Amino acid sequence: MSRLVVVSNRVAVPDDQAARAGGLAVALREALQNYGGIWFGWSGKITATSATEPRIIEHPPVTYAVVDLGRKDYNEYYNGFANRTLWPLFHYRMSLAEFNRGNYAGYLRVNALFAEQLRPLLEPDDTIWIHDYHILPLGKELRRLGANNRMGIFLHTPFPAMEVLLALPSHARLARSLCSYDIVGFQTENDRRSFNDYILHEARGEILGNDMVRAYGRTFKAKVYPIGIEKGVMAQTSMMSSKTAAYRRLEKSLGGRKLMIGVDRLDYSKGLPERMEAYQRFLEKFPQHRNEVSFMQIAPLSRSEVPEYKAIRQQLETMSGNINGRYGDFDWTPVRYLTKNFQRNVLAGFFRQAQVGVVTPMRDGMNLVAKEYVASQNPQDPGMLVLSRFAGAARELESALLVNPYDREDVADAMDRALTMSLDERKERWTEMMRIVDEQSLETWRNTFLDDLSKAPFSTP
Ligand code: F6P
Repeated sequence: MSRLVVVSNRVAVPDDQAARAGGLAVALREALQNYGGIWFGWSGKITATSATEPRIIEHPPVTYAVVDLGRKDYNEYYNGFANRTLWPLFHYRMSLAEFNRGNYAGYLRVNALFAEQLRPLLEPDDTIWIHDYHILPLGKELRRLGANNRMGIFLHTPFPAMEVLLALPSHARLARSLCSYDIVGFQTENDRRSFNDYILHEARGEILGNDMVRAYGRTFKAKVYPIGIEKGVMAQTSMMSSKTAAYRRLEKSLGGRKLMIGVDRLDYSKGLPERMEAYQRFLEKFPQHRNEVSFMQIAPLSRSEVPEYKAIRQQLETMSGNINGRYGDFDWTPVRYLTKNFQRNVLAGFFRQAQVGVVTPMRDGMNLVAKEYVASQNPQDPGMLVLSRFAGAARELESALLVNPYDREDVADAMDRALTMSLDERKERWTEMMRIVDEQSLETWRNTFLDDLSKAPFSTP
C-alpha cells in the first residue's frame, strides 16, 4: 500500500503528556503502528501565536508532525466552533449550540493553516485519512492546494438528522466540504441515513446505491464503518489484572459488595446527571440493594475551559454528594465519584470486577467503553452491560440491556435486572456480544476503510 497519512485534532505523540488523550487517539495510534506513515495534527500545546510550521518527531515507523496553536486560534477553533457549535449540534443538543461568526472564522482559519502545513509533506501517492468534526473542511482545503490524493474522512461522532443540521448557519459549506472526500465514513446506519437525507433533499444530490453518492459534481462513497477495539488485547489485559495492586485494593474496599461501574469523559453527552438520578431511583425502588452495591463513576475532566463542561462538573459533585448524604452509611458509600484518569490496564481490572457496566449516553458516536467492558469480562461469570439505545454501540450490542437514558425508571429497572440476572442468561448474552466485539474489531474497521479507500477515485457507475 502507498504511505498512510492520518490527520486528527489530537495526536498521541509517544511520551508527550500534552498530546495524549482520548479513545480516538488510542485507536489511531494502533492503526498507524502497523502501516507506518505520517500522523499530523495539533500538538496539544497552546502558545502565543500559532506555529508557522509543524514540529517533526521521528518515531519509526511513524513520523509525527504537530502544530502548536495560538490562544486565539485554539479558543475559536477548538473551544469555540468545534466544541460549542458542532459538538452539541451533532449530539442533538441544539439549545447548547452557540452560533458565533468569529468562532466559525477561526475554525476555517485553523483548517486552512493545517492544510498549508500538511501540503508540503505530501507525496502524490499518499493515502490521506482524516478524522472527526474538528477538521471537516480540511480535505477541501487540501484539494484547493492541488492535492489529488485519495482522501477519506471518518466521523467519530454521530451525524445529526437533516433538520438539526439545518440550524447551523454554515451547514451548506460544511456539507459541500464533506463531498470533496472519496469516502465519508460513519459509525452507524443512522448517521449515514441522516447524511444521505441531506444530500438528497438539501444538496439535491443522488444516492446511487452500492454506498455511492453523487453531489456537487463529485461521486464518492458514504458508508458505515463501526469502530471497534483491538482484538484480544483488553481480554488479555483484564485476565492479568487480578495481579495488580489497584485490583486488589478495589476488591478489598468493596468488602464483598457488588460493583456497578461507569467510565466516561466528563461530558454532557454522556448522560451523567441522568445516570445519577437513575441510580438514586434504583436505591429508592430496590432497597434490598442498599449497602450491597456501590456505583463507581470515573469521569476524567474534559474541555474544562468550555462553560457547559464547568457547569456539569459542579452539578455532578452536588448530585453524588446528595446521594451519599441521603443513602450512605458509616460503612458504605453508595457513589464513588472520581475525576481522576486511570490507565487502561487498571480500568480493565475494574471492569472485570464490576457486575454491571453502565454506559448510558444521551447520544454517542460509538462508545468504545461499552466494548471494552464486554471484552474485560470473565467468560465463566460475566457482568452485564446496561447500554443506552442512543450509543452507536447499541446497533451492534443488541444483547446488552438496552435502555432509554431519558427514562430514569427504565435505567433503574435495568440496573436491578443486571444485578439479579441468572448466570446462564449472562453467559448467553455475553457470548453474543463478545462475538461481535471480536468481529468488528479495530483491525476490521481500519482494514475495511483503507481497503475501500485504496480503490478511489470512484466514478459514476
Ligand atoms: O470521539 C470524539 C472526540 O472528540 C475525539 O475526537 C477526541 O479525541 C475525544 O472525543 C476526546 O475529546 P478532546 O480531544 O476534546 O479531549
